[in-house]
Amino acid sequence: MLDFKKIIAEELKKVTNIENIEEYIEIPTNKEMGDYSLPCFKLAKEMKKAPQMIANDIKEKLNISENIVTKIEVVNGYLNFYINTLPLTSTLFEEINAKKEAYGSSNLGENKTIVIDYSSPNIAKPFHIGHLRSTVIGGALYKIYKFLGYDVVGINHLGDYGTQFGKLIEGYKRWGAEYNIEENPIDELTKIYIRINNLCKEDESVLEACRNNFKKLEEGDPYCTELWQKFRDLSLKEFQKVYDLLGVKFDSWNGEAFYSDKMGEVIEILEKSGKLVESEGAKVINLDEYNMPPCIIEKSNGSTTYATRDLAAIMYRARTYDFTKAIYVTSYEQILHFKQLFEVAKLLGLDKKYTDNLIHVPFGMVQSKTGTMSTRGGNIIKLEDLLKEAISRSAKIIEEKNPNLENKEEIAKKVGIGAVIFNDLYNSRIKDEIFDWDTMLNFNGETGPYLQYMYVRTNSILEKVGELPSLSNIKIELLQDEASINLIKEMYSFGEIVKQSAEKNEPYIISRYLINIAQLFSSFYNENKIMCDDMETQNARIYLTYCTSIILKTGAGLLGIQMPDKM
Ligand code: ARG
Repeated sequence: MLDFKKIIAEELKKVTNIENIEEYIEIPTNKEMGDYSLPCFKLAKEMKKAPQMIANDIKEKLNISENIVTKIEVVNGYLNFYINTLPLTSTLFEEINAKKEAYGSSNLGENKTIVIDYSSPNIAKPFHIGHLRSTVIGGALYKIYKFLGYDVVGINHLGDYGTQFGKLIEGYKRWGAEYNIEENPIDELTKIYIRINNLCKEDESVLEACRNNFKKLEEGDPYCTELWQKFRDLSLKEFQKVYDLLGVKFDSWNGEAFYSDKMGEVIEILEKSGKLVESEGAKVINLDEYNMPPCIIEKSNGSTTYATRDLAAIMYRARTYDFTKAIYVTSYEQILHFKQLFEVAKLLGLDKKYTDNLIHVPFGMVQSKTGTMSTRGGNIIKLEDLLKEAISRSAKIIEEKNPNLENKEEIAKKVGIGAVIFNDLYNSRIKDEIFDWDTMLNFNGETGPYLQYMYVRTNSILEKVGELPSLSNIKIELLQDEASINLIKEMYSFGEIVKQSAEKNEPYIISRYLINIAQLFSSFYNENKIMCDDMETQNARIYLTYCTSIILKTGAGLLGIQMPDKM
């Protein structure tokens, strides 16, 4: 695609001899100031002239094709550029015509692998709302990187290892028959866990038995392994319901247990590095010089830690996937863990290309309007129930608004899930998320359902006309009014937006962009009658509508939101 900014920068470079002049170019927030602007006061020191004079000088010497820039203005030391919207429009249309749903994609990531560790709930424990965020954010990043041509490996680093399994095995041995873990694995296993934990507090010998079970599990004892496998399988079956509702997939389910036989090497390497020291019976890496508490590698009782398993996972992922970036999506509560981890990883003897590209992508908490997210009984909300509630609430709204709609169930699912996903991805991820049904299901707010509703509008227009007019017959001169051009300009930057969102690992950049597109479409639609007497004008407007629908659908797809055709 024509890169207007680059072309302007090239010409400016010739005149100013400033190599990195492109970095100076701004996009004015005020549309009156043109499409691009060069603030010349930034050059004043270097050129030893007043900004206004510099701007005039440059303008004088510049030689930019009419096809790129139609007007250059000097205003208060700024040099403002107005781009030629005709080639902008035709390039956009040609690009969308050629690429369709792939418009905005690229081969930036060719032959590069991105590993994304996300969701990663703990076996036999409730899948809580923090895991929902990780699943949604990680799921979006997965799609975004794929769209940019990367090979992406989605890893569910399950918490399937640890002394709690020794306890669960003991509890199950004693009372397994009393609980229906097949039917309701997480709830029932949680009950067993609480009960055995209480018993452990009363009776030291029970605790000893639990420890022993865990040891046996580590040594591969068949009975303990079988029970562990059962707990894992049943938990996954329950988690899978959430993944299916959200449409999230993983390429690897290697959890913490997968690394149980791979930690020896980590400890050996760290020992050889001379940095592994004894502290109160434990083996730790001191991180004083980085102002962090030590990273515990082996506890005083000889067991390994969450961090040790993560170190083994880094080695494994570097060797297996040869990653360009390894991303970890968790709540901000684990910021310290990952800082320590990434520091210690430098001692593993891996190539810098791996240890320099370990990236923690933290996110904020979820809060309801009234404060915490728990049910009235104080229990943690089950995600499956929450997603089902989103669907039933959407179904109710659809029933009120459009009772005769076909496939209501299917649509309610898209709307409900879309609302939850969009709400999760609407703000910079580190901000706390406010979970409020009325806000996220509002069809007129900055919400998932609003995007879907605007998409449905484009869709019904396109359905009405039946066949899309061929691009060769479109007169782009008929789309040069302000509302149309604003929409066209915004659509032009879709590819750039997707790249930015990957660079920062921030899906919200796409969410906000899509809201913008939807609002610009709404203005275009309100100001221009699409179905009109003049066939040429109608065709041009229909084509623009078509382009909008492609971008809305593709962009929402990158977030994990599906578009209904009707609603
Ligand atoms: N299971 C962990 C938790 O629930 C998250 C794991 C994140 N991934 C990792 N490689 N540490 O808190």
